[in-house]
Amino acid sequence: MKRSLLLFVCTLMAANIFAQGQSMDRFINDLMGRMTLEQKIGQLNLHSAPGFISAQKVSEADANVRLLRAGQLGGIYGNEDPVYLRQMQDIAMKSGARIPLIFGMDVIHGDVTVFPIPLATASSWNMNLIEEMAHTAAREASAGGVCWVFSPMVDIARDARWGRIAEGAGEDPFLGGEIAKAYVRGYQGDGTYQDGEHVMTCVKHFALYGAAEAGKDYNQVFLDRPEAFNGYLRPYLEAVKAGAGSFMSSFNEFEGIPMTANRYMLNDVLRKQWGFGGFVVSDANAVGEVVNHGLGDTATVAARALHAGLDMDMNSDAFVSTLVKSLQEGRFTMADIDLACRRVLEAKYKLGLFADPYRYLNNKKSVIYSAENRAVARRMAQESQVLLKNDGILPLRKDMRIAVVGPLAASNKDMGGTWTLSPKAGECVSVLQGIKEAIADTARLSYREGSWIYCDSTLEFNARYGTIASFVPAGYKFPSFHVTPQQELIRQAVEAAQQADVVVACVGETRGMSGESSSRTDLTLPDAQRQLLQALKATGKPVVMVLMTGRPLVLKEESRQMDAILNIWALGTEGGRAVADVLFGDVNPSGKLTVSFPRSTGQEPLYYNHKSSGRPHPDGAPFKKFTSGYIDEPNGPLYPFGYGLSYTKFAYGPLRLSADKISGNGNVAATVRVTNTGKRDGQEIVQFYIHAKYSTSTRPVKELKGFQKISLKAGESQNVTFKINKDLLSYYNHDLQWGCEPGQYDIMIGPDSQHTGIAKALFVE
Ligand code: NOJ
Repeated sequence: MKRSLLLFVCTLMAANIFAQGQSMDRFINDLMGRMTLEQKIGQLNLHSAPGFISAQKVSEADANVRLLRAGQLGGIYGNEDPVYLRQMQDIAMKSGARIPLIFGMDVIHGDVTVFPIPLATASSWNMNLIEEMAHTAAREASAGGVCWVFSPMVDIARDARWGRIAEGAGEDPFLGGEIAKAYVRGYQGDGTYQDGEHVMTCVKHFALYGAAEAGKDYNQVFLDRPEAFNGYLRPYLEAVKAGAGSFMSSFNEFEGIPMTANRYMLNDVLRKQWGFGGFVVSDANAVGEVVNHGLGDTATVAARALHAGLDMDMNSDAFVSTLVKSLQEGRFTMADIDLACRRVLEAKYKLGLFADPYRYLNNKKSVIYSAENRAVARRMAQESQVLLKNDGILPLRKDMRIAVVGPLAASNKDMGGTWTLSPKAGECVSVLQGIKEAIADTARLSYREGSWIYCDSTLEFNARYGTIASFVPAGYKFPSFHVTPQQELIRQAVEAAQQADVVVACVGETRGMSGESSSRTDLTLPDAQRQLLQALKATGKPVVMVLMTGRPLVLKEESRQMDAILNIWALGTEGGRAVADVLFGDVNPSGKLTVSFPRSTGQEPLYYNHKSSGRPHPDGAPFKKFTSGYIDEPNGPLYPFGYGLSYTKFAYGPLRLSADKISGNGNVAATVRVTNTGKRDGQEIVQFYIHAKYSTSTRPVKELKGFQKISLKAGESQNVTFKINKDLLSYYNHDLQWGCEPGQYDIMIGPDSQHTGIAKALFVE
């Protein structure tokens, strides 16, 4: 496009946005001028739908209907039945100030079509695919009446004990930031919501939730500000820059103030420093729960939350029940309420709900769970798997006699992973099913359950039913378990193994063992499954361990005993098919870890971008007194951040810098030549790290600053270049100033965070 034409188009666009902003302001000013105080507070109230997700008949006995008629409800979440939602919208449009409801939903990893858990999709390092996945989820959600999704979850997590590590992108803030942007782009499109198939994001959980002490969910966070800004906050900031429409505050406290009522974070950082203009909703019941944190009674904490910059109260009714009186008592001003109300109304305006309250309620069923969407899920499931070990047994031949064993091998639900509300979650393709479909002759295939999950019956119950136990009515009869003795299950599996050429053992965590409030103190494989693996190993047959998990596990024994380990996380709708694609070599695995796998649980929190102590102890080195390590375990991970194998091999040439100095606004290019030296085509994730040698405040031993996922045919080579400038080398110093300090920076490029080749020194003037 010619420059003058480009300028003209840009001016038009700017004028359009300005005009839209002006008409939005005018519209909302006019509307708010007609609203009562109670109606304004009503807009700040969000409720879950009764029954959570199941379709409901609208009933006058429903508390939401009563609130709605009284103008006391601004939105509903957790229901995707357009018929029900349409009826609720009808009531809204006939009550009070006639303001449309906003409909939200926990679309965590896919809506009806289930995608791999977020920790898995992060392992793809494929930003285009993540964007396409989010767009697919948005298309499905919007077809079901939803215009607002509670995603992406961008909490950095360094502690694998925390169950919600499954819901995020892992331990690295740079990668987390890139992934946050990809999600926002995918869900929101260009942010105009014109096409009706994009939805508003709700970035969560703001902030620092992933640093819950001891990996225990909802627990306190103890971080200093520089560490918070450098190590954790980048993904939230990137989401703001990408135009995220809303944020959800987190359950944890920071610096002694729960995030729900933390004015420094919600107002000073998110809004003033970062320029976020959207609205903030609390996490579920969190406003009311600030009482448990010990900040006062419901009225006190609601007033504090509002004044801190929290706009919408999810489920606790603390705003609707106290704000009118608190205003009269002068605990805050009318301006606080007006501001929160305006932000919620602006979101509704931007989504087009005032123009057409029913625009997402057209019940476009054909868009949902379509073959096209499932194809995206399969591609994503292929790229999410991480091959941790392969002695050469993989890929398998399709004419082999295969024994598929393990308590998770035939499970559809566990393949769906944590946090999926999809009615199709029970139809996720299991590993067994995927293998069956892939091979021509199923007579060569045998299947045995092989073991319990845990030997202990309480742990078994928690693993299988702990999540649903909190939703079912009293007296609900859970299916029985531990019916066939463990030794008998093992005996059957061993028998099957003895008649096979190879064993595929599908073991790990059930879907209930990770996710919200599913923290663990022991990250080894559950005991019953370890017994199974040992018995299988003793048969002398090659064993391929297919690991389902929502978090890094301790795989010390398994890494010695197993012939191959394929980490499949929980892959969603198309999971089993994608696993078969990789097991049989139709797809070459390309995923790499975005979290460190520890050698022992006691190492947690474990993350590659840690700082150096004054007495550093090298990873893997034996115990040495008076250095920073452990008596009983070497430092460092078993499988590092960035690690993952392929069926081919990649060789890295020497690192070249275009200059050894950066001055002013200059750039330096760092280049390596990567060659596929194997016999198969493959994809490689090339990673670029820096280390600031000296700085005025301490910095990590390594920091990821770039990556590229490239495809190379067998024998092919490619130069991979990363541009370095001062901004890329910058950090927040002790005084929270962002900047690049002069001095030496080590520049490294490699296949994972441990193998980064020989560093080249780059000097900043
Ligand atoms: C609690 C969870 O922390 C949050 O992630 C979720 O979006 C809300 N509940 C709503 O279901």
